[in-house]
Order: sequence, then structure tokens, then C-alpha cells
Amino acid sequence: MCGIVGAIAQRDVVAHLIDGLKRLEYRGYDSSGIAVLNDGIHRVRRVGRVAEMEAAAAEEGAHGHVGIGHTRWATHGGVTEPNAHPHVSGDVVVVHNGIIENHESQRQRLRDLGYTFESQTDTEVIAHLVHHYLQTEGELLAAVQRAVRELDGAYAIGVVSTRQPDLLVGARMGCPLLVGLGEGENFIASDVSAVLAATRRVMFLEEGDVVALRLDGVQVFDRDGAAIERAVRLSDVSLASLELGPYNHFMQKEIHEQPKALADTIEQVLEQGFSPALFGDESGEVLRQVEGVQILACGTSFYAGSVAKYWIERIAKLPCTVEIASEYRYREAVANPKYLIVTISQSGETLDTMEALKYAQSLGHDLSLSICNVRESAIPRASRLVFYTRAGAEIGVASTKAFTTQLVALFTLAATLAKLGGKLSADEEHAHLDALRQLPGSVQHALNLEPQIKPWADRFAPKHHALYLGRGVHYPIAMEGALKIKEITYIHAEAYAAGELKHGPLALVDEEMPVVVIAPNDSLLEKVKSNMQEVRARGGELFVFADLDSHFGESDGVHVIRTPRHVGVLSPVVHAIPVQLLSYHTALARGTDVDKPRNLAKSVTVE
Ligand code: F6R
Repeated sequence: MCGIVGAIAQRDVVAHLIDGLKRLEYRGYDSSGIAVLNDGIHRVRRVGRVAEMEAAAAEEGAHGHVGIGHTRWATHGGVTEPNAHPHVSGDVVVVHNGIIENHESQRQRLRDLGYTFESQTDTEVIAHLVHHYLQTEGELLAAVQRAVRELDGAYAIGVVSTRQPDLLVGARMGCPLLVGLGEGENFIASDVSAVLAATRRVMFLEEGDVVALRLDGVQVFDRDGAAIERAVRLSDVSLASLELGPYNHFMQKEIHEQPKALADTIEQVLEQGFSPALFGDESGEVLRQVEGVQILACGTSFYAGSVAKYWIERIAKLPCTVEIASEYRYREAVANPKYLIVTISQSGETLDTMEALKYAQSLGHDLSLSICNVRESAIPRASRLVFYTRAGAEIGVASTKAFTTQLVALFTLAATLAKLGGKLSADEEHAHLDALRQLPGSVQHALNLEPQIKPWADRFAPKHHALYLGRGVHYPIAMEGALKIKEITYIHAEAYAAGELKHGPLALVDEEMPVVVIAPNDSLLEKVKSNMQEVRARGGELFVFADLDSHFGESDGVHVIRTPRHVGVLSPVVHAIPVQLLSYHTALARGTDVDKPRNLAKSVTVE
């Protein structure tokens, strides 16, 4: 969602700020802005793409050695220029990610002090509050420290003032903020991608930290105001991974990166076998206590968890429940402290998943594991154990390589729990490791089906609705397929466990309804075939993703694309690929914005 950049340097920082904002575009936003200090405050804001704001900044000749910038995804107040950040109060300028919960009471108090408001945002409260304390404290750092003590809610902020043009102040609570350390120049950003063009040396701030950045150094203060050192690391995210390269879209690039992303994620498993060490230092002790698994996640990550339920129950013989994080967090759940809480999140920042984890912990769940793609993000930091997928940066809003690598992580968890519980024979372990070893190749074979999938996409493009069917472990793949086509093509799609068809959705089926079926040769194939007959008998057109071992042929109204062979227990990973490709090519045929679908954001950091 929203993104923050900030810089203090001897050079003009406008190009850095705008480059940083462009790299944050993938998170989703609807307006953007920068403010730089020269003799005064030069602020440029625009609704729409960063490129429009960039053009305006160039036209106005914006320049300065210190500045902040922001991409805004509207929450408090509509998508308007006055609501776009940065917000100014006198000589103070602020950008903010997050939500200030006590903004109404602060707004009233500041009005009583004589402040007027130009926007509907909660952020303007912060600008006025810092300005107010700048009068009493006489110093920007102290003013920010005073102001943040009065904020309830979540924030990451960047603040500058013409009163001290040699200083950039940042602070965080509940939202990520990191510092980029350069040579004679320093930066803040909400996401590492926004500093990599300048430096790979980064420092992740902790909850409650306030940081003062000057040309020659950086000082961090903890929530009690005490000076503190935070570890400096070299980011392992490469700039190349953030570029499109030869591809037209990040989603296309990320779909095709899956063999490598999977191989990178599997490498650690092949090196160590199904060992608790894969999940962190304490994992032997934690995983041995586990009597069941509760998975919490949102969206695509929830569907990964839904596949894992089948694996955990089948392989580890442990009960497993999967729940949408935003539901769990408000339910009066009955805790069983012997259950492992598994959160799954590509970004590691999704607010609902984070809050669901905190709620589980408040209920007495002490055993927690995060499966995450972004190092040092909030959810793994709040969990006892972590498995980092090695998908690399995922920029397209629609999750693809994060999903399939999450599946590998979850399969590994199932097998590791099975091994610890004495439920995995040496032969089975060997077979599972071998299946993982073969997986990147099988996924590559599925990618090679792309030329066959394109004509299907052309047939899909004029449709308004679609049904996706699957059974057993492939039912969540049908759900993921329906979500993928909804979010990037805007075709309304629903997924059903195929056995449910006759309990209602069959009424929807006619010649206009394409029905996608995930039908590999698993133990439920015969059942799926019967469900397909039910569709065909009502005139529905079937688009079937099968494998070479699912013995049925094409016929009138039944189109079949086959992966080269059935890959056994990991088949859901392979079958995720064709549904991704179908969505991608249908979106191309419909001319929608593949990487930035309307109304959506990559990291959902609000409720
Ligand atoms: C769909 C998609 C979303 C995310 C969901 C959770 O393609 O990307 O449904 O899966 O917002 O995000 P993370 O995994 O970052 O917690």
C-alpha cells in the first residue's frame, strides 16, 4: 500500500526520491508526492501515476539536498491532491504510512490550539503535532519524539523542516521503516527496493524507534528515547530482480521465474533433509511439542495453506485447520497451546495476518511459525520460527512465484512434522526429497504449455463469468485460479469443490459459462469426471487441465491441456502454473493492467 522514501545528500535528491517511489509503485497507490527543502519547501503532488508527478516536478524545477516522498493508497479521505502526501504545517513536512487511530481527538485538540486542516487525512494531525512541539522543544528530533508519544495506531513517518535543513527524521511503530546508509548520504524507505539504487547497506528499525539522519551519520533512539545501535546488514535483494528485463510484465517474469524460485527454495531442503533446523534455532524444541496445526493467512497465501491442510493431515497425520486471518482475529477462538500457529505471508506485512498472530498469542499460543518471502518483515519477527521462501522480490500484484514457493515450504513442514512424529519411513523421506528435486523440471514442463493456453485465453476474454472446479488437494488450486482471473481480468469467477456443483452452482451452467477443471490423475479423478459430465449435460464448455495419466480425450465442448506426467503428491504446485498462464493471457487479451489491477495493493497494511 502506501510507500515512503526520504534522502539527505550533497547531491540533488529529487531523482533518488522519484526513482524510489517508482520502485514502490508495485505496492499499489493512487496519488504521489515529494517535498524538498531549498530556500523554502518545494512540494509537488499529483493524483495518478508517479510519472505525472515526476513531469510536474521537472517542469517546476524542484531540487534540494534533503527531501521526502510518498505513494498514497487512500484510506482517510478520497483520492485528491490535497489528501496526497507530503503534508505541511508551517515549516514542517511529513509523509506517513499507517493509520492514526486517535486522529479525531488530536484534530480537535489541534484546532483548539489554532491549527486549520487542509486535508481529510489522519497524517495532517502528525504534521501539526510536530509543528506544535517544534515551538516548545526548539529542535526537530525532540519535537518528533514528543509527537509520536501521542499517536495511537500504526505509523512509519519521514519528517523534515526548513528550521533544520541538515536533518531528516524517521520514526516507526507497527509499519516498516528502514535506513539506507550511503557514503556521505543517507536514506529512509518503507521497503528496501527504494534504496537499492543508492546503497545495499541497510538498517531495519525496531518498533518505537526514532532515527535522525544527517549527511555524516545516523543516530537511532528507542521508544524510551535512549540512543541505541541497530544492526547494519547488506541487503540480498538485487537491483536486477526489480527490473523487467526482457519481459513485458512483472507477472509474466515472475511466472517464468518459478523453476528457479522453486529450485532456490528447495536447495536448503535438499541440503538438510526434512530437518527442524530449516525453521530456525528453536525449532526442534517447538516442533516436537506440536499436536496440531492452525494456519492463518489471507488471499493466495490462504490457498497455499488450504493445500497444506491436505498434506499435513496425510503426511504428518496431525489435525490441521486453515482460517482466513481477518476472520480468525475477530472470532472467539478456543486455543489449544499445543497447536502450531502457522502464518503464511509473501510480504510479511499483511495487517490482518499480523493481528491474527497477535490474537493467537494473546490466547496462549506460544508455538508459532511464519512462512514468508521478505526478510526482516513484521510477521516473521513476531514468530518463534521462520521459513523464508526464496522466491526473490515479487512485484506483480497477483502472487505467483510466492504461492508455489509457499507450497514447497508447507510440504517441507508436513514432512518434517511427520519425521519428528515417527510417521515418515526412510523410503518415504527419500521419495519426498526426490519429488522436490524433480519439481522445478516439472514446473518448466507446465510453463512449456503456454502456446496451448493462449488460444484458450482468447476464448475466455469476452466472457463475464467462469467457474473453476477441483477436488481434494486440487480444490485450493481451483480457488487460486478463480482469484487470479478475477483480480487481473475482472472476469467474475467462482471456485467450487467439484462435488458441490449439484448442490447449487450447477444452476449457473449454460453455453455461456466456461468451466475450468483441475483434473490430474489422482485418487479423485473418477469423481471429477462424473462432475464434468454434469456440466457437459447442461451445455457448459469445459476447459480441463489434466496430466498425461488422466485418461480422457477431447470431445465437443471439452478442451484438454495436459502436463507431461502426473507428479504425485506435489501435483498442486505444477497445476498452479496453467491457471496462472490462463489468467495472464486473458488479461492481455482484455487489455487490463496486469501488474497493477484496479483497486488492489501488493501489501495490504490496513484492515
Ligand atoms: C493475490 C494476492 C493476495 C495476497 C494477500 C496476502 O494474488 O496477492 O491475495 O496473497 O493479500 O498477502 P501476503 O501473502 O503478502 O500476506
